[in-house]
Amino acid sequence: MTQIFSRSADTWLRVGLLLLIVGLSGGLLVALTLESTDYRTGRNWVVEQPLPFSHAHHAGELKIDCRYCHSAVQTSAMASLPATETCMSCHSQVWKNADVLEPLRKSLREHKPLHWQRVVELPDYVYFHHGVHVNAGVGCNECHGRVDRMQLLFKAQPLNMGECLACHRDPAPHLRPPEQVTNLQWHTDEDRRQLGERLMRARGIEVKGLTDCGVCHR
Ligand code: HEC
Ligand code: HEC
Ligand code: HEC
Ligand code: HEC
Ligand code: HEC
Repeated sequence: MTQIFSRSADTWLRVGLLLLIVGLSGGLLVALTLESTDYRTGRNWVVEQPLPFSHAHHAGELKIDCRYCHSAVQTSAMASLPATETCMSCHSQVWKNADVLEPLRKSLREHKPLHWQRVVELPDYVYFHHGVHVNAGVGCNECHGRVDRMQLLFKAQPLNMGECLACHRDPAPHLRPPEQVTNLQWHTDEDRRQLGERLMRARGIEVKGLTDCGVCHR
């Protein structure tokens, strides 16, 4: 019988197959790793902004309340981002001519809002409401971490379904008096569970039903 394929063709086929297998399993490994990493959830990534605004400076050192800039957080689904005018309430006097603030002055001159990039965002098919949480006594740091220590803002927690459900199953240890929600340094010597259960009774918050799919997917 004559040989159809040369010996070297056979070797090339083996090498080819080997490369294919290595490639496929490598790809799968990368995909599996990325699935659960900070890359996918966006956790700990700093996003490029029109100017380097520091929460550590404004919310931490200067102690400006979160609600001064995120004024809708108690009443609406969205917390809202501040208008240029809110920044200018101080920066028309303090650091008036600083180069870093030029984008702010330009925005005011041209009546064009600054285009802040979003850092924490849920997919469209998930329903979330800030007001409900803030009024129930869930502190900002339960979901956003110590924003008052962040030079540039990053997403501190994955905020995936598992994290929402973990608290919805048992919110008591995560609650604080509602007037302390924007105080990220708040702490108490009282037992958190006891305090939380008392707050839930006082506000009539029920755990039952909070994990139903329709609460967040409506
Ligand atoms: C209540 C007053 C106040 C408001 C409101 C305010 N700032 Fe500031 N900002 C300051 C002060 C005070 C400084 C620092 C001056 C210093 O360090 O001597 C500062 C400094 C800065 C700096 C310089 C870098 C730094 O952090 O030290 C930037 C950039 C800045 N602010 C951006 C903003 C932006 C953007 C807004 C609106 C979202 C804003 N600020 C709102 C008071 C304010
Ligand atoms: C002086 C105004 C100011 C204050 C005070 C302030 N913020 Fe912000 N915040 C901003 C601006 C401007 C942005 C958008 C730029 C950025 O992401 O850094 C922002 C963005 C955020 C974001 C990310 C939103 C997103 O998805 O892009 C979170 C979360 C946040 N702030 C939480 C807080 C909390 C919690 C506090 C109080 C401890 C607070 N902020 C106080 C101005 C402020
Ligand atoms: C129970 C969790 C939770 C708490 C508590 C919470 N947030 Fe948020 N925050 C989120 C989620 C989730 C998003 C993204 C929402 C979306 O994309 O629809 C978000 C987005 C934001 C944004 C950007 C978009 C917007 O809504 O305008 C800001 C600003 C913000 N949060 C500030 C705050 C502040 C300030 C507090 C405390 C007063 C707070 N958050 C408390 C979960 C939370
Ligand atoms: C740290 C605790 C905590 C976390 C984390 C949390 N929640 Fe909640 N959530 C609560 C509590 C407590 C209530 C009930 C408030 C009430 O009944 O007054 C609630 C209520 C809600 C409601 C309103 C239910 C209704 O019927 O009005 C929605 C929607 C919701 N959560 C969505 C989410 C989503 C989406 C996430 C994740 C991104 C999330 N929550 C993360 C504590 C939490
Ligand atoms: C407390 C809020 C909450 C409840 C209750 C909830 N989900 Fe989700 N769900 C989320 C959030 C937030 C996401 C998007 C973030 C993520 O990828 O985990 C999500 C994502 C999903 C996804 C897309 C998953 C993916 O990996 O792309 C499916 C499917 C889903 N939910 C089904 C359900 C079902 C079924 C139930 C009821 C058993 C349910 N969810 C209850 C908050 C919730």
